[in-house]
Amino acid sequence: MSEKLILAYSGGLDTTVAIKWLKENYDVDVTAVLIDLGQPDNLQDAYMRALDTGASKAFIIDAKDQFIKDYIFPSLKANARYEKKYILATAIARPLIAKILVDFAEKENASMIAHGCTAKGNDQVRFDVGIRSLNPDIKIIAPMRIWKLSREEEIEYALKNNIRINVTKKSIYSIDENLWGRSIECGNLEDPWSEPLEEIYKWSKITKNEKDEEDIEIGFEKGEPVSLNGEMMSSPDLILKLNSIAGSYGIGRTDMVENRLIGIKSREIYEAPAAEILLESHRQLESLVLDRELLHYKYLIEDKFSEMVYYGLWFTPLMKCLMKFVEESQEYVTGAVRLKIQYKNFSVTGRKSEYSIYDYSLATYDKNDLFDPKFSESFIKIWGYPYEILAKKGRKNE
Ligand code: ARG
Repeated sequence: MSEKLILAYSGGLDTTVAIKWLKENYDVDVTAVLIDLGQPDNLQDAYMRALDTGASKAFIIDAKDQFIKDYIFPSLKANARYEKKYILATAIARPLIAKILVDFAEKENASMIAHGCTAKGNDQVRFDVGIRSLNPDIKIIAPMRIWKLSREEEIEYALKNNIRINVTKKSIYSIDENLWGRSIECGNLEDPWSEPLEEIYKWSKITKNEKDEEDIEIGFEKGEPVSLNGEMMSSPDLILKLNSIAGSYGIGRTDMVENRLIGIKSREIYEAPAAEILLESHRQLESLVLDRELLHYKYLIEDKFSEMVYYGLWFTPLMKCLMKFVEESQEYVTGAVRLKIQYKNFSVTGRKSEYSIYDYSLATYDKNDLFDPKFSESFIKIWGYPYEILAKKGRKNE
């Protein structure tokens, strides 16, 4: 009897030809799993394509709510960005996909999992390490890592084998998309000096004029966004709405060269209007309600958190602890942030919270000032002692 294999299926060229290739090269029965994380693909169409190409079974899993709750929001609370920029949209989706695949494999008694990642990217690491951390007995097969075919050769293979594919030779970009962001690579972007063409953008297509602007208000509860302009909204609706408002001003584009885990640099473009706005708003609300020591220490946690996500180390003891720290830090991150959205630009113009520890009577320079200046001199005297003593001993650090 053939062994069972679970394939992470996207409906794209790579995973479609992989169905055929897997069956040719291993004695396997393929179950295709399509996971909906808010990507725009026609999953019904992909579902049919999987079955037409030879999968014995196919499933569409709507994982959007879980993605938001367990992956997007924790990253937002951690203000997660790899190398201070990339909002990690692709990276946070991988551990969830790995988890769903492992759950499926266990349920279906499958001994193998296959995915369509190439040997050059970060995603293969995230899938492999994620799967092995959850179930080390499952064998992982990555056809694209074994089978060296160019895109043209793949198309040829598909045509020769009567595989119904859904590509035009023109789509030169590699795009990964989910609710949190859109990642774009390849084509002329492979030259870090060449300017991205306007055609690559989808979420941030500019429909506004240079003089247009609007104010928006985002409400947060314990670090999670819950309302937009005073209206309570479900999380997917809020993200989509924000994407369309901010996107129309051309907000949310990032163009960067990043360090991949496997040692090479790559140039990538990201589009994430909602994520950019939410990350900035969240950070600004934290600045109002968190005390200095927690805020500063959290920066260190955030960098480590981001690196762990990027490196595919989601299901690990350290990640669990970092996650707990981040979650605990959000107890008072409740309030609202107002932003001005302008042509290719946005800025926070106000923040408020019932837990604000901003004290007007201490901060003000007007007549209501309650700050007692006599304490400052003594405080500074003691604060500066170590350096005064050094100077007296002739050890000035100029
Ligand atoms: N560089 C990003 C990461 O490693 C995105 C990878 C997927 N990008 C793509 N355009 N297919 O998370």
